[in-house]
Amino acid sequence: MTEYQVIDSRDTVLRDGTIKLHGPDGYEGMRKAGQLAARILDEITPMVQPGVSTGELDDKVRELTLDGGAVPATMGYRGYAHSCCISINHVVCHGIPSEKTLKDGDIVNIDVTPLLDGWHGDTSRMFLVGDVPLKARRLVDVTYECLMIGIDKAQPGARLGDIGAAIEEHARQFRYGVVREFCGHGLGRLFHDAPEVVHAAKAGTGPELKPGMFFTIEPMINLGKPWVKLLSDGWTAVTRDKSLSAQFEHSIGITETGNEIFTGSPKGWHKPGDY
Ligand code: MF3
Ligand code: CO
Ligand code: CO
Repeated sequence: MTEYQVIDSRDTVLRDGTIKLHGPDGYEGMRKAGQLAARILDEITPMVQPGVSTGELDDKVRELTLDGGAVPATMGYRGYAHSCCISINHVVCHGIPSEKTLKDGDIVNIDVTPLLDGWHGDTSRMFLVGDVPLKARRLVDVTYECLMIGIDKAQPGARLGDIGAAIEEHARQFRYGVVREFCGHGLGRLFHDAPEVVHAAKAGTGPELKPGMFFTIEPMINLGKPWVKLLSDGWTAVTRDKSLSAQFEHSIGITETGNEIFTGSPKGWHKPGDY
């Protein structure tokens, strides 16, 4: 049974398994946090070039986050020590920034989560480094389509499983693998909260979507099999078959009539090809 909890920003929020239903103050807070998150990705876009290290990108994300009056929610999260996650090629998610430099032909995901005035804006995009082969570019395009097709299904009265069903159906047409081990998540004043948003699901299953629900959709799509493994650093997830993996993420809220994307790019730089 799904439990919902109507809350406003004065309430104490607990990770108690309930799905939070937020009011206007929640939307205000999420708009600001989400727009800062998207602006951070816009501003680092010109830096994503061959030769830049992921550590330098992380430093810039931290600077932009702090300048925006926020803190990176990832810093100190379960022992994670960086301002964002940067996942290159066959890294599925949670790549750790380091001295490693980007090289021509890489595809890379940058995932940022500023915590602004108590609200989390969580978003990621793929970037193409130099000349990227068509096969990889197509994976990136289709992954973006998967995210947006999922968001289209996020309507009041629909079920959570409708989102994953639509994503999986789209990915399947290209014989891509949809990662199961990592999911979207409720968020707001908590970084990771109920519900778990699976990206491969059965339509008509799962909790009903109601106005005031905030969650991310963040499909990870593999050029090969869906299987992932965790490296010994305890964070980096890679494809078992070493195939390329792509991901895009938005934070959204369910409204009376549909949904609101909190993390849309101010510059309209939603995906490669837009800039
Ligand atoms: N931003 C990631 C997400 O989409 C979470 C990163 S947690 C970290 O949920 F600790 F790995 F940074
Ligand atoms: Co997320
Ligand atoms: Co994220």
